[in-house]
Amino acid sequence: MLPGLLVEFHHIYDFSVEILRNSNLTFTFKGPWCCGMDMLFTVDQSNIRHIMSSNFANYTKGPEFKEIFDVLGEGILTADSELWKNLRKASKVMFSHQGFRRFSMSTTRRKLKGGLVPLLNHFAEEGAVLDLQDVFLRFTSDTTLVTVTGSADPRSLSIEMQEVDEFAKALNDVAEGVMYRHVKPRFLWKLQRWFGFGQEKKLSKADATLKRMCAKFISAKREEITSHNFNGEAEDLLTYHMKLDATKYELLNPSDDKFLRDTMLALILAGRDTTGSALTWFFWLLSENPQVVSKIRQQINTSLPNDESMQFLNKLVYLHGALYEAMRLYPPVPFERMSPINQDVLPSGHKVDASMKIVIFIYALGRMEAVWGQDALEFKPERWVSKTGRLIEEPSHKFFTFNAGPRSCLGKHLAMSLMKTVVVEILQNYDFKVVQGQKIEPAPGPILRMKHGLRVTLTKRFSDCIKPDSVEPEQDTLNGRYLD
Ligand code: HEM
Repeated sequence: MLPGLLVEFHHIYDFSVEILRNSNLTFTFKGPWCCGMDMLFTVDQSNIRHIMSSNFANYTKGPEFKEIFDVLGEGILTADSELWKNLRKASKVMFSHQGFRRFSMSTTRRKLKGGLVPLLNHFAEEGAVLDLQDVFLRFTSDTTLVTVTGSADPRSLSIEMQEVDEFAKALNDVAEGVMYRHVKPRFLWKLQRWFGFGQEKKLSKADATLKRMCAKFISAKREEITSHNFNGEAEDLLTYHMKLDATKYELLNPSDDKFLRDTMLALILAGRDTTGSALTWFFWLLSENPQVVSKIRQQINTSLPNDESMQFLNKLVYLHGALYEAMRLYPPVPFERMSPINQDVLPSGHKVDASMKIVIFIYALGRMEAVWGQDALEFKPERWVSKTGRLIEEPSHKFFTFNAGPRSCLGKHLAMSLMKTVVVEILQNYDFKVVQGQKIEPAPGPILRMKHGLRVTLTKRFSDCIKPDSVEPEQDTLNGRYLD
């Protein structure tokens, strides 16, 4: 079946919808003989619950997954068993820490007021076209890097929109390269790596860049911690992991550079493109559904005063539902891959052998009529709001966008708050129009990006809405001038 899959690879996500719809939610893929590429594709909720929760002990990411993502080393996204348990335990403490939440939200707000708003104002005043996907990815890239490393803002958001910095470019190359590794026979990509050509050449370069840049972040942080000016209050993830009490977490070594690098890379990858991708698809869906924009604006206005607090964000139930609805149809992480340790029989009756690859197509799951009803393909935020105006939380094995069970996303609440903050700012202050005639389609990759970006034009809604004193102009370091 491999040649057939490669032919359809350019539209793999819609292809997965078709195949799974026609095969009662589970499909067995036969790869070439002796290549270890047999896979089971499933979107059956009972299978998902079994793999991710009830029989979780029998399922791992597996050594092959780790090999495909070798650039990431042994961070939380690729680790298994005891190492993963310890990494998860340590990260969980940090993610629920008030100080970290405050730091993360204040980083987002600073970037919003000092980077995104001035940029959008400029494009609105000029009437120029901008690629919203590029803008959101730069925004989330900068905020994630600051939140994880505590380093200075790389300021990739500027009017000139220069080439993204080498760290961001290396992460993009990694995302592209690993996607090809998923569908190429192992011996083939290993051969390419050996000879150093094609995607593998790009990946090796990206790997070297990430190692070099991470080493810089780590040594800068060590210097900062030992300097006299350090007050012990830094709340970024790198500092936290450097100061971990090693006696509480077996297998984690806070003084080991490799541990710090792998941890940093996993967290940057987990937080960076996911929110950027979700915001892009969300705004495109809004452009197709103006009635949803009106309802969100109405709720923002009736929930005023907008004091930007969590309390205010929590009141925006319809917006919450609209974001969930966008991520049901366009999940930022479009598939999950697991492998059984021992042979098993899934609730659907399919037998899976040890080390066989199981792929849960999250993109297809959100589009199955058998799961979401006949209107599965429609964008309907209302499906998430109860008659009494409360949010309807679907079981995570059905709404699998943030994963389920013990490996569920640790950044979900952070991501929802970040996205709501950005959406409120944009919808209150700008009208936007998607440039007609552009093709909107997802690109194959571990993160669901738009293949050709999302070109839009903006107009300011209320010229006096953005008070000059609420905007701290951000200095464009390359050109040495202020953005607004
Ligand atoms: C819309 C935004 C987001 C979505 C849809 C999302 C989705 C996911 C998914 C599907 C996984 C499972 C990945 C896998 O097992 O292969 C995951 C894991 C994870 N996410 Fe998120 N994520 C988002 C934002 C974030 C943010 C902002 C952070 C914070 C840095 C974050 C931190 C994590 C971590 C640490 C894990 C690993 C959990 C584990 O393996 O135990 N995520 N996320």
